Amino acid sequence: MSNKARERIKHKEKLIEKRDKMLKHDFSSERATVEEVFDNATFMVIYALLKKGILDELNGVVNAGKESRVYWGKDPEGKDLAVKIYLTSSAEFKKGMLKYIQGDYRFKRIKRDTKSLIFTWAQKEYRNLEQAYRAKVRVPKPIAIKNNVLVMEFIGEEGVNAPSLKKYQPENPDKIYNTVLLYIRRLYQKADLVHGDLSEYNIMIWKNKPVIFDVSQAVPSTHPLAKFLLNRDLKNINRFFKSLGVNVCSVDETFKKVVNKNL
Ligand SMILES: Nc1ncnc2c1ncn2[C@@H]1O[C@H](COP(=O)(O)OP(=O)(O)O)[C@@H](O)[C@H]1O
Ligand SMILES: [Mg+2]
Repeated sequence: MSNKARERIKHKEKLIEKRDKMLKHDFSSERATVEEVFDNATFMVIYALLKKGILDELNGVVNAGKESRVYWGKDPEGKDLAVKIYLTSSAEFKKGMLKYIQGDYRFKRIKRDTKSLIFTWAQKEYRNLEQAYRAKVRVPKPIAIKNNVLVMEFIGEEGVNAPSLKKYQPENPDKIYNTVLLYIRRLYQKADLVHGDLSEYNIMIWKNKPVIFDVSQAVPSTHPLAKFLLNRDLKNINRFFKSLGVNVCSVDETFKKVVNKNL
């Protein structure tokens, strides 16, 4: 056997070992939900990411939501990753997703079975992260997307995710408020996006600065719901920062500032 062939076999063995380790990982308290997430197809995706050298480890659950689970992972260099896995068994949110996909010029021809819609939804979150990241809006850096699995920068340290604004009262609410408004404006002007589900739940505070996340529902500014969603986002942000004692601008005023290039 040639050296090359031997190396290839060794590499494969290592991969299999890793995969088995992942399979044996003690998710005991989460066993039921993990099995639900790790259907065969999802496992193949994880395996492909492992093989490609994007993912090296998949550790515990950071968050178990209704439609997705977020895991703490590591890349081959040991850097933390967040791996968001959308549940393909979650048929419930099909209706909810459609209205954000229809009217989005990026997803014109889509398949409508539940599984395809969920893949599109994950793809949409990835694309939105990319556009936001390029526009210099602080979001988790997108790293990879395959089917229902999204890999991104981990916001936090050693598997402990940064707290959301809901859980953590910032010391500098005025500054955070202004930065969030700046991000909403950049998102609109430079990334051509409206978040659509912005609130204290989808903003993390990391190193005293806001990080916007959970962007799967974000729509382009030309989307029929864009103006309505922007207004709702601004209302949420105003209500929240007002409760922290920040002297907020009116929703109408901030709306104008966000959409008007010259203000
Ligand atoms: N990139 C990330 N880094 C660290 N934690 C994350 C990351 N993305 C999500 N989380 C954690 O997972 C939770 C759920 O993620 P989110 O994207 O909001 O999903 P959902 O659609 O279920 O609300 C978040 O509240 C946060 O605690
Ligand atoms: Mg969320």
